[in-house]
Amino acid sequence: MRTTVLAVAMVMACLAAAHEDVRPQRDFNLQRFAGRWYRVGLAYASEKFAPFRDKLKASMGVVTALPDGNVNLTMYDATPLGCLVKVYHYQKTNVPGQFTYFSTRHNLVKDMTVVETNYTDYALVVKHKVFNREYTQVALYGRSTAVRTSVLDRFRSFALSQGFPRDSILTPPPAENCPPSESGL
Ligand SMILES: *[C@@H]1O[C@H](CO)[C@@H](O)[C@H](O)[C@H]1NC(C)=O
Ligand SMILES: *[C@@H]1O[C@H](CO)[C@@H](O)[C@H](O)[C@H]1NC(C)=O
Repeated sequence: MRTTVLAVAMVMACLAAAHEDVRPQRDFNLQRFAGRWYRVGLAYASEKFAPFRDKLKASMGVVTALPDGNVNLTMYDATPLGCLVKVYHYQKTNVPGQFTYFSTRHNLVKDMTVVETNYTDYALVVKHKVFNREYTQVALYGRSTAVRTSVLDRFRSFALSQGFPRDSILTPPPAENCPPSESGL
């Protein structure tokens, strides 16, 4: 009985610690966060995703701040079928920098936290199923496709600290012609 209580207390402490690690950026400012980003880093340990690791490209995304405080993220993904455009809708929570969204792929409500950003260069974003670390991802967004080595190092050490194996921490090359150059984006 005592061991159970102790074990539960330890699990609670671990969850609290894990949650603490993914606190949002202080004074998160959605207006400054809006605009174009490139996903220049991705840590994703899913075994199903492993065969696609070397095909990943640094997709472009455009964050639109909606008047109600929610967010639309338009992603341009280079795939073997061409450049696919998808809009993701994120709903604000009462914590600035933290959002929830419905994943149609996993049929789950998940959450997304902007852990760290300086708005002009980079953003570290964590995604996970609410109260569950399954499907967790860490993404590094850059305002351009080339971010500084110090930022890449920060992303790698953050992902390692979250328990991601080294081979799941990717820094893909830029996508070619996605969005298509004639689109003017
Ligand atoms: C945000 O995305 C939703 C769903 O795709 C769409 O209906 C809506 O028009 C978008 N709003 C803006 C301002 O882009
Ligand atoms: C954002 O980060 C970059 C790279 O570390 C740095 O050069 C730049 O000065 C930072 N900008 C702000 C506003 O802190």
